[in-house]
Amino acid sequence: MADSPNCDLKSLSPLQLFERVTEQGEKVRALKAGKAPKDEIDAAVKMLLSLKLSYKTTTGQDYQAGLPPKDLVLINNGTTKEENEDFVDPWTVQTSNAKGVDYDKLIVRFGSSKIDTDLINRIERATGKKPHHFLRRGIFFSHRDMDQILDAYENKKSFYLYTGRGPSSQAMHIGHFNTFMFTKWLQEVFDVPLVIQLTDDEKYLWKDLTTEKAYEYAKENAKDIIACGFDVNKTFIFSDLDYLGASTGFYKNIVKVQKHVTFNQVKGIFGFTDSDCIGKISFPAIQAAPSFSSSFPQIFNGKENIQCLIPCGIDQDPYFRMTRDVAPRIGLPKPALLHSVFFPALQGAQTKMSSSDPNSSIFLTDTPKQIKTKINKHAFSGGRDTIEEHRKYGGNCDVDVSFMYLTFFLEDDDRLEQLKQAYTSGELLTGELKKVLIETLQPLVAAHQERRKQVTDEMVQQFMTPRKLAFEF
Ligand code: TRP
Repeated sequence: MADSPNCDLKSLSPLQLFERVTEQGEKVRALKAGKAPKDEIDAAVKMLLSLKLSYKTTTGQDYQAGLPPKDLVLINNGTTKEENEDFVDPWTVQTSNAKGVDYDKLIVRFGSSKIDTDLINRIERATGKKPHHFLRRGIFFSHRDMDQILDAYENKKSFYLYTGRGPSSQAMHIGHFNTFMFTKWLQEVFDVPLVIQLTDDEKYLWKDLTTEKAYEYAKENAKDIIACGFDVNKTFIFSDLDYLGASTGFYKNIVKVQKHVTFNQVKGIFGFTDSDCIGKISFPAIQAAPSFSSSFPQIFNGKENIQCLIPCGIDQDPYFRMTRDVAPRIGLPKPALLHSVFFPALQGAQTKMSSSDPNSSIFLTDTPKQIKTKINKHAFSGGRDTIEEHRKYGGNCDVDVSFMYLTFFLEDDDRLEQLKQAYTSGELLTGELKKVLIETLQPLVAAHQERRKQVTDEMVQQFMTPRKLAFEF
């Protein structure tokens, strides 16, 4: 590492310190193995002890080899992954459990906090609105610093929302729709600006796409996002390929982040290797930058200290752990986060819906007939093998994908509870449960398609033009 051993250890982040201790430990071992002169070994050991002490002072935890500081657990370098453990990163979600990822464990591993009843009640008090069913049902289940957002909000200090979408294909699925609908709810109850990043650059780097195609998908996806009903006066949607060159603030924040994150760190957080292209290696800085209000001078009047709240799938957390780690070192506030569970694939909650596998997903472009066929054919059932057994033992809602989807889409709490009881007792059969889901989704998707048809290229242009929004800063 380029840092000299005498550089001020206090200026290092917990993760940097962790890496320094690890490296120094390796150095000591190498010196000993190579039978280096005693004074050289002694000096290295002394350095190791002082690094460990700084680590303890900074993090409040003892250094433990292989166990990074709590806020920054490495999840994707293979070495920390145990057999049978859930695997979660921005590109892969895999678990061997049919109920899906163990989210309580993930909270511990990621070092985030659970969204508990207290927090939900506080959101209700602050906004005066009934909490969204995604909060009540644990679909948004984890957070970082949401209490700070509420503290500030109660003191009349505003914040802004940031979310995004990787435009990997034309079609968005109903899982994406969900996150955007929740974001829309947040925007409405708090009445704050929203920025939406379309990472066409990311998809160009990771997929077999031309920049033109990725940009085209970004614009197509923008139509779906607009069709969710966002207010053009309060929302800015941008393509990275466009906005990076157009903004005076965005690129500045990118280079600030780039200067403060080492290759070692992104390797640890994202599992990049020496053979990944340098575009991928530097991309996390581009997803980090919108977390800082100075990336949008036209909206925030050049202010750089407006707090940011990011609703996202928990798989995006690695990006924002990195962002939160660098923020204080570049003198900017850490973004707060609200994490959602994954939207399960039709085949079962072992993995998430993916736009690239048509049979795993229900798309916003699907016809009523396609929706019906996909659910009947592919939705994993928690029902029994025969009607007799089902009546006798009942179905299992915990693994039944149709039931899981209903928890996302059926807003009526009483109806959902009735269905749960009837299915569990065996009174309701799998085919009947699927029918309820089909009848819930068909009108919802059709209504979306109707709204999307009304979205014109001019409207897309309006949403994507850098401009001041209807807020004073
Ligand atoms: N990387 C995300 C994806 O592939 C897109 C994204 C960019 C995002 N910025 C975000 C998602 C902020 C949530 C929050 O879908």
